[in-house]
Amino acid sequence: MAPSNPVRAAVTVPAISGTKVGSGADPLVMVTAYDAPGARTVDEAGVDMILVGDSLAMVVLGYEDTLSVTIDDMAHHTAAVARARPSALIVGDLPWMSYHVSVPDTVSNAAKLIRAGAQCVKLEGGAKRVPMVEALVDAEIPVMGHLGLTPQSMHAMGGFRVQAKDSRAALTLVDDAKALQHAGCFAIVLEGVPDAVASMVTEVLDVPTIGIGAGPGCDGQVLVYHDLLGIEDRVAPKFVRRYADQRSDAVEAIGRFVADVRGGSFPGPDETYHLAESEAEALSLYSG
Ligand code: KIV
Repeated sequence: MAPSNPVRAAVTVPAISGTKVGSGADPLVMVTAYDAPGARTVDEAGVDMILVGDSLAMVVLGYEDTLSVTIDDMAHHTAAVARARPSALIVGDLPWMSYHVSVPDTVSNAAKLIRAGAQCVKLEGGAKRVPMVEALVDAEIPVMGHLGLTPQSMHAMGGFRVQAKDSRAALTLVDDAKALQHAGCFAIVLEGVPDAVASMVTEVLDVPTIGIGAGPGCDGQVLVYHDLLGIEDRVAPKFVRRYADQRSDAVEAIGRFVADVRGGSFPGPDETYHLAESEAEALSLYSG
């Protein structure tokens, strides 16, 4: 499929995997999207990657956490994003239980996202995911890792908590990152970890790190669309910077529509279809 943004070359997995800020590259930018208009918007803004994240569960579908979203939900929204034909690389997020049960399950679930239009998949977890990552890479499906505060492990972690806060946990995180890279991951998201730990992981890896709540020392940054644009009023985590207040703008705009309808000023003559005068006259003969 040709990209929707013809001025921009399509972003590829090999191009992303070779991007290290320490070697002089610009930081990578990834933003989530869950539908075609969102994908068009972030693509036109120039992001490198669009993550169809399982944050879908919380910011679009109204769940309290990410655990309720299924592989079919993810494929449905990945397909909507892919229909926008972005130049940015589409990353499909594997939801909870889609890669936890068995290696064959993992590959067939990932295939659902690829067939829906993703160009690679993301999964959460460290060394214990190595067999899954290897099988996906073997099936020609590029994999992005995700370490640190992994929301699908919220019950095991005791909530959404910053991870790797002591030196032992930090070294385990470094080992997990190395294991994922060795298994074939082309990039790794680091979420909710102290900046020094993220910088250390970034330095030891050849593949890029994409941070969210991991400080400025990563090879790129990712934010959730609804957080970045202020679409929701849920309390945003500390690491979110809001670049717009779209929720207030939308409430204000729709409030004006409500007032116009109730006050009788909508629709006006310009927003109405009119009969030609001759037809209106002919019609008035029938209506007596
Ligand atoms: O689902 C998601 O949006 C994510 C990002 C927070 C990295 O996994």
